[in-house]
Amino acid sequence: MTPIEIAEGIFWVGVIDWNIRDFHGYSTKQGSTYNAYLILDDKITLIDTVKKEFADELMANIGHIVDPKKIDYVISNHTEMDHSGSLARVMHRVGEDKPLYCSKMGHKNLSRHFPQRWNYQPVENGGTLGLGKRTLTFLETRMLHWPDSMFSYVNEDKILFSSDAFGQHYAGLERFDDQMGDAIMPHAKKYFANILLLYSPLILKLVDQVTDMGLALDMICPDHGIIWRKDPSRISNTFVEWSTQEPKRKALVVYDTMWHSTEMMAGAIVDALGQEGVDAKPMHVRAWNRSDIITEVLDAGAIIVGSPTLNNGLFPTLSDFLTYMKGLKPKNKIGAAFGSFGWSGEAVKLINKELEEMKFELIDPGVKIQYVPDDRGIEACYELGKKIAQALPAN
Ligand code: FEO
Repeated sequence: MTPIEIAEGIFWVGVIDWNIRDFHGYSTKQGSTYNAYLILDDKITLIDTVKKEFADELMANIGHIVDPKKIDYVISNHTEMDHSGSLARVMHRVGEDKPLYCSKMGHKNLSRHFPQRWNYQPVENGGTLGLGKRTLTFLETRMLHWPDSMFSYVNEDKILFSSDAFGQHYAGLERFDDQMGDAIMPHAKKYFANILLLYSPLILKLVDQVTDMGLALDMICPDHGIIWRKDPSRISNTFVEWSTQEPKRKALVVYDTMWHSTEMMAGAIVDALGQEGVDAKPMHVRAWNRSDIITEVLDAGAIIVGSPTLNNGLFPTLSDFLTYMKGLKPKNKIGAAFGSFGWSGEAVKLINKELEEMKFELIDPGVKIQYVPDDRGIEACYELGKKIAQALPAN
């Protein structure tokens, strides 16, 4: 892909990964991009690299603008290999002795990935680097989302290179928000829900920090997806909204089923919720990737989980989903469990335990039905749906 000048003397030199469909378990149905940026100044500076398998393409993109040997500084905002995987190739071409700027944790973590003893220049939070006409300011964003994560900010152009933050897994020829409009927001939401939800409290602190520092943002350049230039505040404000995790009048019924009994129960619960004006949706865990379910979890007020009992335990797909959801620490949810069983019936109890550990408010002991729900069983599911509806906010 031809480099694109995103501001005078600042170029996107990243690559588009059209074909990736599974990003360590996150379904990327529309691919992704790995964004890297080149700043032409007295000191020519490369910010971030791309996955190792795209190193040739990155070098070709840089080569369209400048001989890579002329790069003076390399900056690694984040160690994860989708952004640092090409560092060995880049440093070899740029010059192994050129300064490599990163956070202190970046130094530590990059050293655990690469044996080369590069000329690491660890930076402090708030540290600066003069490039000539421009100055970069570094902001440590520890645990957003790795210990090494940091942002780089161009003071004069008011451009923030935000690493994974504000990114989206989306492959397309569009490079900017104004070329996408609202269509980019579902991708940004999915990215937030799956990568950053766990760190919501840190995001709120970071936004306060950026506000206190008085950093104006004319452009936000993440390491995935499109660049926010038309209205950078739209994505930063939306990040605040997502981080506060205000529950909506929305419920997800997440379930699996063996012989359709638990599915019948899920249908009755969704039906009752819908009748009570709740935005309700059944999500069969084998019909949806867990990353799509978590995207819906983000703003749902209620998560109702259904599992058949299999071998005295949960159906394995529900264990997978609950483990994933627990790790992302969603907040402000109410929860309930349901499921069909044959002879032992442990699943509802096990789901309740998981939901309690996630600090969900359990509003009912749950509904368990032996073998196949009869009219009374379906009625019990309707009652559960109504009870959940009453407990949800009115919005
Ligand atoms: Fe896009 Fe944390 O890497």
